Amino acid sequence: MSRKHNLLQNTFVVFFLMIPFALFSQVATVSSPDQRLLVKFDLHDSVPVYQVYYKNKQLLRPSQLGFLLNSQTIATAKYHLDGNITSQTISETWKPLYGQFSEIKNQANQLQIHLVQNNRPFYRFSIIIRVYNEGFAFRYYFPEQPNLKQFTITDELTEFNFAKDYTAWWMKDDGGIYEQLFQRTPLSKVKNIFTPITLTDGDSLFMAVHQAALIDYAGMSLVRSAKDSLRLKCDLAPWPDGAKVKTWAPRYTPWRYVLIANQLSDLVESQMILNLNDSCTYKEVSWIKPQKFTGIFWAMHTRQWTWADGPLHGATTAHAKSYIEFAAAHHIDALLMEGWNRGWETWAVGDSSVQDFTQAYPDLNLAEVVAYGKQKGVEIIGHHETGGNIPLYENQMSAAFKYYSSLGIHSVKTGYSGTMIPRGMNRHGQQMVNHYQSVVDTAAKYRIMIDSHEPIIPTGLSRTYPNWMTGEAVRGMEWCNFDPWPPSHLTTLPYTRSLAGPFDFTIGIFKLKYDTLRPWLRVNTTLANQLALYVIFYSPMQMIADLPENMEHNKAFPFAETVPVSWDETRLLQGSIGEFSVMARRKHQQWWLGAITNEQNRDLHIPLNFLSAKQRYVAEIYADTLGTDWYNKPETIAVAKYSVDAADTLHAALAKGGGLAVRFVPVDKSKTKNLPGMGVFNQLQATNSNAFAQGTLYGFKTKVSHLAVGAKVTYQAPYSPDYAAGGDSTLTDGILGTQNCRDGNWQGIQGKDEVATLDLGKLKAVSSISLRFLQYTKDWIFIPKQVTLYISADGKTYTQVATETFETIAKDERALIHEFVVNLAETLVRYIKMEATNAGPLPAWHPAAGNPSWMFCDEVVVK
Ligand code: NOJ
Ligand code: CA
Repeated sequence: MSRKHNLLQNTFVVFFLMIPFALFSQVATVSSPDQRLLVKFDLHDSVPVYQVYYKNKQLLRPSQLGFLLNSQTIATAKYHLDGNITSQTISETWKPLYGQFSEIKNQANQLQIHLVQNNRPFYRFSIIIRVYNEGFAFRYYFPEQPNLKQFTITDELTEFNFAKDYTAWWMKDDGGIYEQLFQRTPLSKVKNIFTPITLTDGDSLFMAVHQAALIDYAGMSLVRSAKDSLRLKCDLAPWPDGAKVKTWAPRYTPWRYVLIANQLSDLVESQMILNLNDSCTYKEVSWIKPQKFTGIFWAMHTRQWTWADGPLHGATTAHAKSYIEFAAAHHIDALLMEGWNRGWETWAVGDSSVQDFTQAYPDLNLAEVVAYGKQKGVEIIGHHETGGNIPLYENQMSAAFKYYSSLGIHSVKTGYSGTMIPRGMNRHGQQMVNHYQSVVDTAAKYRIMIDSHEPIIPTGLSRTYPNWMTGEAVRGMEWCNFDPWPPSHLTTLPYTRSLAGPFDFTIGIFKLKYDTLRPWLRVNTTLANQLALYVIFYSPMQMIADLPENMEHNKAFPFAETVPVSWDETRLLQGSIGEFSVMARRKHQQWWLGAITNEQNRDLHIPLNFLSAKQRYVAEIYADTLGTDWYNKPETIAVAKYSVDAADTLHAALAKGGGLAVRFVPVDKSKTKNLPGMGVFNQLQATNSNAFAQGTLYGFKTKVSHLAVGAKVTYQAPYSPDYAAGGDSTLTDGILGTQNCRDGNWQGIQGKDEVATLDLGKLKAVSSISLRFLQYTKDWIFIPKQVTLYISADGKTYTQVATETFETIAKDERALIHEFVVNLAETLVRYIKMEATNAGPLPAWHPAAGNPSWMFCDEVVVK
């Protein structure tokens, strides 16, 4: 696919210079407009390298640049300068169609260094280095040249060689859909990761590495370099034949960039990723509009309705009309309809081969629904769940968008939830990058906006193709239906995933404990926290995900109903990675504030000096209230109005897993006479704060009744979202599960080993300990590779009493239970420790080969 615009430089060059390279004696430097950030380019033994200084301190040590092309080897990838180094100053201000700011400044200094290979075939490429106040970026350019027409990139040698072992937040590159939790480790422990990765030295230096303008190229992951542990090397997702990129000259590559700042807010507020992308390619953009939407969606995720046809089918004409009425009554722009089309029957068992994107199920008249929506002022959002079956979708794509457009549908949510077809195609490789792009291009032809789930990670392309509104690439709300995330997931995302661009988390769950049949499933936040996410998680297509009946009469709903999804101004007021986040955003004259905390309760004092000093405001405050935390009464919320101004300081007392959301409406002073002031609210907060400190702990010891022991025992494995039956019915209730792993007495853990310790409270004469493991390969449930049991009298010295290795029988689809029993002949025991090693990724014979397997463990039964 050729992209002309990508071959042209933007035309906002203010200043242009030709610098004879002799001046630099093989070294070129370029610094940020404020002179604080400096990038040095050099050739070390004919190898191109760069290094980076911030306020005279080295942050990146010499790091390699360049490629291996065709049959080139490291030994032959040697270069020298080829003529003049060109430099330019970039200075422009532009207005995005929607975004976190209504105006964006693009100010940087840039160098372009031209290189030629020392030996035959004398390949030539250049390196473009651009330095902003908040970071630097570089990309490569292959000019037209006789010996490089069509070619293969077999490796991109780009490195990021950090000077210190910073603390890092990252997501492992598992080849998947970016739906893991972010991990925190020292940089030196990073092995293979997706970007963005966020780094800090503690509290005065913050950095993040990511890619921008990913077009017709492979996605970049990072691997620890073999040379040393602080050096990360670019790792391009390969084609099935091992090639990384198949391309031709002339060609620009995507940007690689590093954000660098002394404060976290500079990272969060940075718009560099957009500045590194070309301006909009569409001439006419009136059809592109941010949207807030509800959906026939959560009812399927909570198993009340089905995507597929049948008695519980969700996307029927009748359901759609009633959802439209709800949306219309609450000024919600649009209704997403999942499960509207034929072909979902086999999706649940991993087969997407019968999806038909132009045929509705018989109980849905889509044209009638769209017309009804139009009459009520509610747009319909279409849905294409490809299940990862790319050929099937590419065959139907044009017809499918044409069909939607003929009905008057202007936005589509896509999905790739399933194993990729063709098998062996990398989700992040050049082929898939081009696939996602061709979906956006085809949609644009039909004036359709895209929200892509299970997408390629965003790289700022919404500037160039603004109908690519948002996407997923995040462990979103849906996970609460099978493996709820901890509250700290939400306080990590603003500083990690968010840096790559908007995401559709599907926020707005009001009934947070929703599954009476599976009580361990819940959203681990308070309701005030859910509301705050509308301010903290930016997405210009943003969902109000819950069922109308759970929202309609909820006093918290007006916040979700009125909050904008695109902003004029954005500020991170306070924050700490993984701990908390306070953001304020402005739309016209109104300000909106969101504050969230992790599993710790927290007191934050927030000066309101971001408000206009000349103005009085009504603050509509939605706050955690007594008795609320992530676990108990999460839906309780206090809602009240106060009269405030820019001189006030708001005391936000947040419950564990809690939050606070505020809408600030400027008003005439006379209209606030009867409202209490900030002091009244702050007094309430002081009382709540003490109570919140007593709230339910998350991730610590829990006491549970153990039937077999006939007493309360302490379970020391942290309460973890990995245990599907966590909470009150953990591994230790002593009730043996039935063969049906879904009955709640089994604990599922995916892709991880399990260690659990039981404290029986006092020494007991134990005659046997048993554990059971389930094998059910159809549901990806494998028995552990190894199980080891230890006992202890004092909790310090443990004695191993048994160990056993297991093997899941290949191609065996039966549900089998493997029992692990240890006879102890009345030994005095107080602590019991169990270690179970996960079977690892699903083996080659399995239909979902390569995905992480589940381990299902029944109770630790002590007799
Ligand atoms: C996964 C998506 O992330 C989710 O939003 C969607 O509802 C399901 N797939 C079904 O397509
Ligand atoms: Ca998903």
